[in-house]
Amino acid sequence: MTEQSTILIVEDEDLMRGILAGLMKDAGFRVIEAASGEQALELFAAESPALTISDITLEKMDGIELLDRIKQLDEEALVIMITAYSSVETAIAALRKGAYDYITKPFINEDILQTVRNALRQVELFSENRYLRRELRQRYNFESIIGRSDALAEIFKLIEKIASTASSILIQGESGTGKELIARAIHYNSPRADGPFIAINCGALPETLLESELFGYVKGAFTGAQTNKTGLLKAAHGGSLFLDEVSEMPPSLQVKLLRALQEREFIPLGATKTETFDARIIAATNRNLEEEIAAHRFRDDLYYRLSVFSIAVPPLRERREDIPLLARYFIEKYSRALNLPPKPVSDEALQALINYEWRGNVRELQNAIERAVTLSDERVELAHLPQKVRETPAAIRDLTGQTMTLDELERRYILETLDRVNDDKPRAAELLGIDLSTLYRKLKRYGR
Ligand SMILES: Nc1ncnc2c1ncn2[C@@H]1O[C@H](COP(=O)(O)OP(=O)(O)OP(=O)(O)O)[C@@H](O)[C@H]1O
Ligand SMILES: [Mg+2]
Repeated sequence: MTEQSTILIVEDEDLMRGILAGLMKDAGFRVIEAASGEQALELFAAESPALTISDITLEKMDGIELLDRIKQLDEEALVIMITAYSSVETAIAALRKGAYDYITKPFINEDILQTVRNALRQVELFSENRYLRRELRQRYNFESIIGRSDALAEIFKLIEKIASTASSILIQGESGTGKELIARAIHYNSPRADGPFIAINCGALPETLLESELFGYVKGAFTGAQTNKTGLLKAAHGGSLFLDEVSEMPPSLQVKLLRALQEREFIPLGATKTETFDARIIAATNRNLEEEIAAHRFRDDLYYRLSVFSIAVPPLRERREDIPLLARYFIEKYSRALNLPPKPVSDEALQALINYEWRGNVRELQNAIERAVTLSDERVELAHLPQKVRETPAAIRDLTGQTMTLDELERRYILETLDRVNDDKPRAAELLGIDLSTLYRKLKRYGR
């Protein structure tokens, strides 16, 4: 960032304007000052400052109108509004009109400087050629994987260790648990980060297409092969190739892939010469590969090749402590997309989110929050959640503070009662107020 960026300060109270100007000058910026909206517009047109900081309440032309006029002159202009704490609604209206951010009075010097720096850094990044790559890296750095469960912490530790190697990695987990997110995080934290990350869904293409995508072909290899085509194994040179839904790969291709991985070379369709490749393979599956192997649908030798390292991502319902964090993260994300500050969420709604089973895992949670943020006004309430989330049976917190479903509560209650009567089942049934046959049925379900 060039600290000599010019900042326009618009404030009709002299004292306040002086304080702001001093603050920005001390931080190394060039400062121009206006005491009215009209004067600000003239200065803006003459000097095109990198950033404008304007009070919302000004005599005559107020801050919002000034913002409008500035945006007419330059749609990309960065404007930060200053507002009294009591009139945040106006500030939000300003955000909707394209203000970069707002600061409430009284402000903390460090906060306002931070906001200014963030705004200017954004411009700098946009104007940079390598912007895209940086943004990608940022999007897929570890911080973009939200969660503080032990399970996730273990995964972070593992990723850090294995990212720097060239060995293949197999990521297993239910649909929507974040497998692709993790694959990208590995790539962008590996020495291959400057190389390509190429993803292919092995379940989405018919066999012949998948084959030509992976291995490529030479002109004339088959009808319709009018030019040479580079396979993805080769295209991912110096980077990572993400084989998504790898369990869906047809047996003949499994053989071909295995050979390529063993020999570090392959022959494109119709070619006579072998080609080498240098791509790290990251594979993912939401099926249990061991089961697929037992059923002879997946080759065990390929499995061993692919899973030099293996990462098991647990379903969301087994790491419920991640739910509040994820919920807040998505609320912020979707609020921001609507140009709103993050909406608060009611305790009831949060509890329902924590209790729900989330068979679709983080993706399902993300969709539910997107919908809730859109439907809600100031606050996300129970009513904004999908019906099935609202209707999850009330969970009960046990003494360890963990959430327990009614089923689990029932199970514990029954087993404890049995313990108390030394396994005398008729007596337990009596105490519990259920039929003996019902008790047997339940015990059977618990595996007792
Ligand atoms: N821990 C997390 N933090 C933030 N976002 C997450 C997290 N886990 C998953 N997501 C988000 O949830 C969505 C689904 O994640 P992703 O596509 O990585 O899942 P997947 O395991 O590959 O699912 P599938 O098996 O269905 O392909 C994505 O939008 C992803 O960004
Ligand atoms: Mg996926």
